[in-house]
Amino acid sequence: MRASATTKYRPASSPALPRRHWPEKHLARAPIWMSTDLRDGNQALFEPMNPEKKMRFFAMLCAIGFKEIEIAFPAASDTDFSLTRSLIENRLVPDDVTLQVLTQARSDLITRTFAAIRGAKSVITHLYTATSPVFRKQVFRISKNELIRMTLAAVRQMKEEADKIPETQVTLEYSPEHFTTTELPFALEICDAVTEAWDTGADRPVILNLPATVEASTPNIYADQIEWMHTRIARRDSVILSLHTHNDRGTAIAAAELGLLAGGERVEGCLFGNGERTGNADLLTLALNLHTQGIDPELDFSDLPHIARLYEECTGLSIPPRHPYAGDLVFTAFSGSHQDAIKKGLGARASNDMSASAFWEVPYLPIDPADVGRGYDALIRVNSQSGKGGVAFLMEQAHGLVLPRRLQIEFSGVAQRYADATGGEITAETLWWLFEKNYLGDNNDRLRYREHALAESGEILTLSVEWAGYARVLSGTGNGPIDAAKAALSAFGLSARILSFEERAMTTGAESKARAVAFMEIGVDGQKGVHYGVGIDENIVTASIKALIGGVNRCLREKS
Ligand code: KIV
Ligand code: ZN
Repeated sequence: MRASATTKYRPASSPALPRRHWPEKHLARAPIWMSTDLRDGNQALFEPMNPEKKMRFFAMLCAIGFKEIEIAFPAASDTDFSLTRSLIENRLVPDDVTLQVLTQARSDLITRTFAAIRGAKSVITHLYTATSPVFRKQVFRISKNELIRMTLAAVRQMKEEADKIPETQVTLEYSPEHFTTTELPFALEICDAVTEAWDTGADRPVILNLPATVEASTPNIYADQIEWMHTRIARRDSVILSLHTHNDRGTAIAAAELGLLAGGERVEGCLFGNGERTGNADLLTLALNLHTQGIDPELDFSDLPHIARLYEECTGLSIPPRHPYAGDLVFTAFSGSHQDAIKKGLGARASNDMSASAFWEVPYLPIDPADVGRGYDALIRVNSQSGKGGVAFLMEQAHGLVLPRRLQIEFSGVAQRYADATGGEITAETLWWLFEKNYLGDNNDRLRYREHALAESGEILTLSVEWAGYARVLSGTGNGPIDAAKAALSAFGLSARILSFEERAMTTGAESKARAVAFMEIGVDGQKGVHYGVGIDENIVTASIKALIGGVNRCLREKS
């Protein structure tokens, strides 16, 4: 692709800042959040939400903790007007929540907007006029002065309307739409004119919202623009500087974060980055980014799966599987080295290992999934890229079986070969099926356990087995039941060597009613290799004899 002057979007108005302060700052507190899901977000849907969905969404936003919610553009449609009325008349707005409504600078629209908010306790009336050269020249064909006159006429009308309803606390918000491509001195001039016309003061604050209506630059330029305004606007103490970024270049989050460093105090956006075109800044990501820095976001996403499902239901949109914090796969590792590191990190935390720090510090996991209501089940999934860590983690999490290290390596090879052959992911169920088939006996096994009886001394064992399909009762004497079972098998000319033996209890999982598991590494004279045998039973001796028989069978399967 060739770039040229005509492929270049109008550049953002880049201020000369001889000394910028924002790069040295750090975020220290949550901004004022303003959700525009029900306006900017809703107007960007194939099928806008019906009143019932809007109500459910509104209730969810209140439950998350939003104190300012832009619910509608009441003069633009009867649906938006009725929704506003219905929230107010049915007293559905919590006392600490302020509704926000949007209007253009037209007298009839302002009149209708104020009709919509009658009876509300507290409302932000949000006025916008497009200030950028392209809008002045191509869309409205008006001069800067005409635009200022039109904007101020609207502000004065809004002031008069607000004075008529003293029972409602009306705050003005003004947005110079396309702020980032507007000449900064002109943006400043119109913003100052607005605050003057509103008679802004300590008891009459104004929200100046500076939108990147279409994102046009790298986030540092947006931050420069915000700092330029922040350090120049009149009546600064009575102005709440608000940010409204869109995601056309994919950097809405970064722009909002740098804008906060540069003097922004409030952020408008939508959950999951919904909104016009590529969307608005994603408030969930912004909030949880603060959470990862140890800053209370003052929004509650502790039941994110519920929020995500309700969002999808109401908007008809789906959340991509890799969406920060919320996607189905964001806490999942497929790669072997990642799985291994996560398993070790979680293990260190669980055992209060000294290497686990006071911070949340688990490899590859930016936050504790539990903070957003996610379990650990999906953390590790197994496919052909996975290693022993993932296989071991799933066996432990889903089936309560802690595998010895060498068995992890052996069995992950089995799982990997299966994944390569089938080309897909291996679920916990499939993994168990593979384990059972490989280690817990198979119909083709030459030797099969039936039962055993132990003499009181514990040294003489009667062992009933099937050998090549025929029932046989054997007897063996040894130093304990396993030694005796080994001796019994010599009746078939089998001389087994036990190279390692571990027994443990199964912790969780469907198979845990059989409580004991025995792992034995076995070699058989005359057969190639050493193989693991695994036995599971309620009785540890039975589990051990089954492990012995399982290991012998696996040795016999190998060609000598
Ligand atoms: O993106 C934008 O500029 C807007 C304004 C109405 C604030 O949504
Ligand atoms: Zn917008």
